[in-house]
Amino acid sequence: MTGTPLPMAPGFGQTSRRDAWWLEPLSFITLIVVCFGYLTWAAFQGNHYEFGNYLSPAYSPLLWGDSHHNWFGTARPAWLPWPSFIPFSPALLILPFPGFFRVTCYYYRGSYYKAFWADPMNCAVGEPRTSYLGENSLPLILQNLHRYALYIALVFIVILSWDAWKAMWFMGPDGAEHFGMGVGTLVLAFNVVAISSYTFGCHAFRHLVGGFRNTLSGRKATKLAYDCSSCLNRWHGKWAIISLLWVGFTDLYVRLCSLGIWTDFRLF
Ligand code: FES
Repeated sequence: MTGTPLPMAPGFGQTSRRDAWWLEPLSFITLIVVCFGYLTWAAFQGNHYEFGNYLSPAYSPLLWGDSHHNWFGTARPAWLPWPSFIPFSPALLILPFPGFFRVTCYYYRGSYYKAFWADPMNCAVGEPRTSYLGENSLPLILQNLHRYALYIALVFIVILSWDAWKAMWFMGPDGAEHFGMGVGTLVLAFNVVAISSYTFGCHAFRHLVGGFRNTLSGRKATKLAYDCSSCLNRWHGKWAIISLLWVGFTDLYVRLCSLGIWTDFRLF
């Protein structure tokens, strides 16, 4: 059987396309540099990650930290190794996990392969190489760990939901916690919505809930779960971007409130 060659102009970046095909990869590079750049900077700060009952998602779970949000204590335990040239920051302990989940996500892979190393450049646009190696050797074979990163991402949703719940309880003048809502509560709550919509639309999650091995289950409950996940999956790329932007914005919101630059308005 002979194949039909694609109408692709030879040579790097050559194409007969007339649309702005470069706009999407360029926008993606900008998004990644801004969001990952900001979150990396925030993770190294090690401070201003809480404001009262609000905790930045970049620092949650707060395993050790000088805050009432901490799980195990205020100071880093002596048994936990830490390079002396980096100031301790609890965010650095946890961010690699959601970071790995995103880096191995099918949507992100498709986007950063195009945007950062032009493989492929874009549909019907000449590539800088003629061979295709796939993801069957190191380091790209590690992309197959995405399905396991999903399990950790699901745990993060539970933790972030708990943070959003705690963001509804404000300390009153009587020293007791009272139910309420501030703009920050809504910011933290939408963060859970965005990350859940992104995670539950994951291809690996859809495979997990949809059935058995490579066939769809005949059971109504799993069929329903598969359909719901498929519904979110249609917007998977958009939720990937929205949730990334919102994590950064939520950290910024909490940080600016903590610094006294931004006022958190109480709704009730
Ligand atoms: Fe994107 Fe799994 S495919 S999160």
